[in-house]
Amino acid sequence: MPPRRFQAIVVLVVFVLLNLTFYGLPSRESLPTYEDVADAVKHPHVPDLHVPDLHVPDLHVPDLGELPTVPNPFRPAHKPPIQPNSTSSSSYRAIEWLSDFKWRNPFSSSVALDQNRAVLPPLRERPLIYTYYNVPKKQDAKISEAEHRLILAWRRAWWAQGFKPQVLSRAEAMQHPQYQLFQRMKLGSEVELEIMRWLAWGHMGGGVLANWLALPMAEYENPMLAFLRRNEYPKLSRIQSLDNAVFFGERSSVDDAIKKAMTNKLLKNVTANKDKITQLAKKEGGLVVNLLASKDIAVDAKANGVASYTMTTITSKYKTIADKLSNTTYAEGLDLLVNLINSHLHLTFQEQHPEGVAVAKPLPEHTTALMYEATDIARNLTQCPTSPIPKSCPPNRPKCKPCDANKAMKLLESPELVNTTKLFTIGTVPHPYTINSLHYTRDTLDSNFLRNNAKRDLWIWELTRESIPKKHTESYRLVQFKELVAAAPAHTLWLTAERITQQDLDWIFGFNLPQIASTTPEPSSPSDKSELIIFPRPGPPEPIEGQVVPDEKWIKKEEERLRRAREAIKSKDKVMKSVVQAVEQWNLADTEAWKFARAYSARRRMERKKWEEDEQKFAGSEKKAGVRPGEGGGGRWLDGR
Ligand SMILES: *[C@@H]1O[C@H](CO)[C@@H](O)[C@H](O)[C@H]1NC(C)=O
Ligand SMILES: *[C@@H]1O[C@H](CO)[C@@H](O)[C@H](O)[C@H]1NC(C)=O
Ligand SMILES: *[C@@H]1O[C@H](CO)[C@@H](O)[C@H](O)[C@H]1NC(C)=O
Ligand SMILES: *[C@@H]1O[C@H](CO)[C@@H](O)[C@H](O)[C@H]1NC(C)=O
Ligand SMILES: *[C@@H]1O[C@H](CO)[C@@H](O)[C@H](O)[C@H]1NC(C)=O
Repeated sequence: MPPRRFQAIVVLVVFVLLNLTFYGLPSRESLPTYEDVADAVKHPHVPDLHVPDLHVPDLHVPDLGELPTVPNPFRPAHKPPIQPNSTSSSSYRAIEWLSDFKWRNPFSSSVALDQNRAVLPPLRERPLIYTYYNVPKKQDAKISEAEHRLILAWRRAWWAQGFKPQVLSRAEAMQHPQYQLFQRMKLGSEVELEIMRWLAWGHMGGGVLANWLALPMAEYENPMLAFLRRNEYPKLSRIQSLDNAVFFGERSSVDDAIKKAMTNKLLKNVTANKDKITQLAKKEGGLVVNLLASKDIAVDAKANGVASYTMTTITSKYKTIADKLSNTTYAEGLDLLVNLINSHLHLTFQEQHPEGVAVAKPLPEHTTALMYEATDIARNLTQCPTSPIPKSCPPNRPKCKPCDANKAMKLLESPELVNTTKLFTIGTVPHPYTINSLHYTRDTLDSNFLRNNAKRDLWIWELTRESIPKKHTESYRLVQFKELVAAAPAHTLWLTAERITQQDLDWIFGFNLPQIASTTPEPSSPSDKSELIIFPRPGPPEPIEGQVVPDEKWIKKEEERLRRAREAIKSKDKVMKSVVQAVEQWNLADTEAWKFARAYSARRRMERKKWEEDEQKFAGSEKKAGVRPGEGGGGRWLDGR
């Protein structure tokens, strides 16, 4: 037999010969000519855009004129499979989305092949961060609740920074193979706590382990937080200035460390070495670290992203709270600590936006009522945070600039987007029906009006009038807008005009907005007994220069029109539905912006709700911290109410 490769060549030659014998050489006529190809490139065959028949008497389909280049959604093609949990109900038709890398396409329908589905960027992976909470056997209910609220604050702050915070307990430690061995050693309870923390962490497979009084208090891009978010920890490490508050490492390195610590000769006879072990546990890094050789765990020096509220720090910096904690008023002290931490998180946000908060209000003449929610949030964001020690700074930033009510954070209204990260922008994205009805002060819309009077895609053009040069199309503007909505870190927040209540703000910001304010221009206390200081609420922003402020009477009309627009979009009536559809067809870019913003926020809410559901049995859940759904995440407990 000839070798293998000759066999293959022989087969090939036979095949070619047979083909030539039976079919002959390819004829010239069967090949496309150069002209054929050139013609096909010049005039691609695209079926006509099909405009759905509206079946409405006296209401013909608007002349759509020059449509932006939306690939035809009706070309036969398979729709991408519907992803699990990609729908959220809403009174204005279901909110549907598709998470896909092609989200930068200006129009979702060309990717999702569905008129209602918005294409969103894939969800960012959230690395897990663990904390260990030793559930006490018997404890005053008040103290337990206060602890749950502190853990909730911890969870929220890390969630807002892009992590998935999870609270571990002895139940996880007990699953670790080394648990029984440590259990038999009969270590003292304080010493044991540190070991249990490590065992629980080892059982979860490594990652980041943090103390629940260690919270991120820095900008999103802070090098340390960015490093932790990368979810790759080449070496088991701790952070120098944080004692034993933050560790990170991979599963194998954590398990190795636990095994090595175990072989330390001090643990051979715990009774004999009791004092030495207690001494060791008090040294920097905690017991496990000090049972290891120093080469086993790296020490990271760059670390200003996390604020750790250890007892030592509290005693030296926040004396008011330390006094409460060292007395029968322990629960009260913890409550003050929750408020202090919240105020520091809020302060961090304020410092990161030195130019203040802007309410983006394109087409300002008739949209005052549209901006109520955005203005409400903006005012609370710029208010000085409620705190037991207003002049204090977070432990990791001793040189901070405390909030000063006399020189409060700027709050302004702007007719277009000011695109800078030094300013936090809150906007409201209206449905095109809403904005057309408000802007043209019309109670009802119809296609005649649209064709003869209405400018297309009013809102997106106005919003980006200054920040994007004139030459760009609305498709370009749309993509830029989507980038802003989906950006991390986000320096903007987009509400949809048709949803009345806004939830989740505390999880988006990572802290509670102040819910009560001083009734006088001076800081005051919510009650005689309270140790908290509350500040006056900033007034609404100054109206945009050159804009005539409408009378109360007109604003009432706006409110009414807004209500009607909400009804119209919700309407199940056939005629109304076709009008809304015509408005959407006339304003493709504005409709897309609305769809995108609302799907983005619905998915964000769903992601969070699902996580809360998974975690509800564990310490620090909203349920355990006494937060009822819809209550705005713990507001009841802050502000000393
Ligand atoms: C979808 O949601 C349900 C209920 O919240 C949940 O049980 C399920 O795991 C989710 N599926 C995915 C893929 O997230
Ligand atoms: C541990 O040390 C104590 C006192 O030094 C001694 O009495 C005891 O026998 C030792 N136990 C073991 C298991 O070596
Ligand atoms: C404990 O608190 C009470 C009342 O709040 C106060 O009178 C007392 O001096 C405090 N004791 C200590 C040791 O601080
Ligand atoms: C905002 O600024 C960034 C960076 O300068 C730019 O890439 C982006 O296009 C701008 N977006 C808008 C909507 O102006
Ligand atoms: C803002 O604060 C006021 C009271 O000062 C409160 O009624 C309102 O609910 C707060 N809004 C938000 C969004 O937190």
